Amino acid sequence: MTGAARVIRSFQSVDSTNERALALAAAGAPDGSVIVAAEQTAGRGRRGRAWHSPEGGLYLSYVVRDVDAIEKPALLTLAAGVAAVRAIGETTGLRADLKWPNDVVTADPPRKIAGILAEASGAGSRIEFAVVGVGVNVSTVSFPPEVATRASSLAVELGREIDRDALQAALIAALDREVARLRARGHEALIRDWSEASPSARGRRVSWVSQDGVLTGLTAGIDDRGALLVTTPHGPERLVAGEVIWA
Ligand code: BTN
Repeated sequence: MTGAARVIRSFQSVDSTNERALALAAAGAPDGSVIVAAEQTAGRGRRGRAWHSPEGGLYLSYVVRDVDAIEKPALLTLAAGVAAVRAIGETTGLRADLKWPNDVVTADPPRKIAGILAEASGAGSRIEFAVVGVGVNVSTVSFPPEVATRASSLAVELGREIDRDALQAALIAALDREVARLRARGHEALIRDWSEASPSARGRRVSWVSQDGVLTGLTAGIDDRGALLVTTPHGPERLVAGEVIWA
């Protein structure tokens, strides 16, 4: 966090905390400002999907200003992933893993307990500010049928109530630390921490749809821009976006 004191706005229910944080940032809110809600009526997920956001979640969006001063802004999502895993660990003791590009999952079986969506605003190639949104399933017990077998919540995993306020405070503090580290060009340390939290980023079979059809290979870590490296029978591949199917 840099400059003026941040604004923190808490809502019981909003459409999307990312939407609200983008508007807050556009109105000049300082770096590190936060919008947080216990429910979203139009939560946004990756790839244009909806993010199931019933009451009982922690839906938090964090404003990052001066994105131009960040050498590798593409790493913001990974930094938020490390922050989410740290905050969950510090508050609940649960060791969550990261799954490229930005899913926070339980170790075994891997069930998604949090997701991250970074959105930027600017003119042309200049990013004026970005918003990093983190959605944590805190005490959600039922999920839509299409994700029910792949999603879980902290309360379900741990079989007890979770201190949502403590998790919120830990998440904001962890985002402060990770964004500051990115600004200070701590890329190597970030990639190392992210990789340590992501056992599936090495040696796991993945498939994806390419222009040449469905390709398959073994994950081989991430590079310094956050791309997933995959070893295939035809040579190395570098995935920057898109859907990956994990075997
Ligand atoms: C994903 O698809 O995994 C990303 C989900 C991101 C959801 C969070 S909840 C807080 C913020 N506000 C939104 O509308 N989306 C993000």
